Amino acid sequence: MKLGAACLLLILQTGILQLTSAATPLITAATNQECEDVFTKTGTTVLMSADPDEPEFYTANVEDVRNSTAGSTVCPTKYGATLLGQPVVIVASGEGQLNAALCLTELLRCSAYIKEVIWSGTAGASSQIGGAITPPACVAENHQTVGLGDVCVSPFSLAWECFEASWSDACKGFPDVCSAPDYDYGPEATNADYGDCVYNRFDDASLELADEIVAAARDPNSYASMPRRGPTTQQYMSEYFGNMSAGTGLSYSPNAADAAQVFDYTVCMETTSLYYWTGVPWDYLARLFEAQAVNQALGLNQTAEDMIAVTAEEATGISAAMYHYRQINGSADIPFVIIRGFSDYTYPPLTQTANGSWQAQEFNVDDSTTNEHTYYFTRTAYSGV
Ligand SMILES: *[C@@H]1O[C@H](CO)[C@@H](O)[C@H](O)[C@H]1NC(C)=O
Ligand SMILES: *[C@@H]1O[C@H](CO)[C@@H](O)[C@H](O)[C@H]1NC(C)=O
Ligand SMILES: *[C@@H]1O[C@H](CO)[C@@H](O)[C@H](O)[C@H]1NC(C)=O
Ligand SMILES: *[C@@H]1O[C@H](CO)[C@@H](O)[C@H](O)[C@H]1NC(C)=O
Ligand SMILES: *[C@@H]1O[C@H](CO)[C@@H](O)[C@H](O)[C@H]1NC(C)=O
Repeated sequence: MKLGAACLLLILQTGILQLTSAATPLITAATNQECEDVFTKTGTTVLMSADPDEPEFYTANVEDVRNSTAGSTVCPTKYGATLLGQPVVIVASGEGQLNAALCLTELLRCSAYIKEVIWSGTAGASSQIGGAITPPACVAENHQTVGLGDVCVSPFSLAWECFEASWSDACKGFPDVCSAPDYDYGPEATNADYGDCVYNRFDDASLELADEIVAAARDPNSYASMPRRGPTTQQYMSEYFGNMSAGTGLSYSPNAADAAQVFDYTVCMETTSLYYWTGVPWDYLARLFEAQAVNQALGLNQTAEDMIAVTAEEATGISAAMYHYRQINGSADIPFVIIRGFSDYTYPPLTQTANGSWQAQEFNVDDSTTNEHTYYFTRTAYSGV
């Protein structure tokens, strides 16, 4: 009898505990006062980047700045402002997926104030849609070229490190870059062992936000006022494709002087890694994973030859924070999107050494003379407004 009552009590308590834990999310909302350190009103757009230098374009155009109180934030910079009449919070998270996730999780404690989250930053990208060559056939391809300063807009991302590979299987072709790395698992490895590998769960609001940004960035009026590539970027592109041409025998027609192209989530998404890689085998793997991820999300039929590999370090952190927050607070379904502007290529120019065998050329460019980073940041940020 005593035992029975104790059990009943335990069951009741457990029940109560469960109820309590369901009603009180572990990440609790900040008080209005805490939020109003930087958020002035509901309907605020959060503009995020990694490096505090990156939001320069926003910073140059803001009014009514409300800086966060020193010591009140894990984000290196965070302030509220008005940009083109819209309430915004401009934030740098610091580099890497962990910093991005921590900083966004902090912001989400003020979710009641947030209309949408727009991430922008630079990235490495394939120099053509579908790359210059695709293992295992490795025929030189004359696909549409990708320019430095071009932009990818997608609410999807995937974790490139989500596979198992041995060095000898992954690098078996060296120095022939016509080699598809062998690996176990892949994006499909999203499971209890790996956690989330692919962030492509369908979300109407985020797709709409991406569509809206793509449409605005391609609109002839805004397109006309987009910043153009500067002379060192044009020089870089022309030398890159010239040297590629010498190695493949094909001629390419990159439109170096023109305003940048805007690619959407059907042909690109960020493949996040903290490993600064270059080389055709990794470029191929990223394109393959992206094709699988976009097909899974949207029922498309893309292959590695339809995709642009986009390599950067934060999207999965942003996505993980957002997905987990939605899980614990179903009413905070905040649209978000990742905008990446390309500042590098994922492989150097190539040379065919025998039928189907390829090597990377030396392509050494002095960063200080070629990287017009302000242009890339500006170009990328410009797509976000
Ligand atoms: C915000 O405050 C920090 C630290 O005092 C300062 O470095 C930064 O320039 C300020 N930002 C703005 C936009 O006022
Ligand atoms: C859940 O989200 C709603 C809508 O954004 C917000 O008003 C509320 O404060 C959030 N609750 C918590 C505990 O974060
Ligand atoms: C995808 O393309 C392949 C090859 O062209 C074709 O066999 C397959 O039926 C297509 N699948 C879908 C879902 O369209
Ligand atoms: C190159 O290799 C491919 C596949 O191994 C073969 O089909 C093709 O005939 C070869 N071309 C030449 C010119 O040897
Ligand atoms: C491009 O190729 C030319 C001719 O081989 C070479 O002199 C030049 O250094 C290459 N460009 C770069 C940036 O490496």
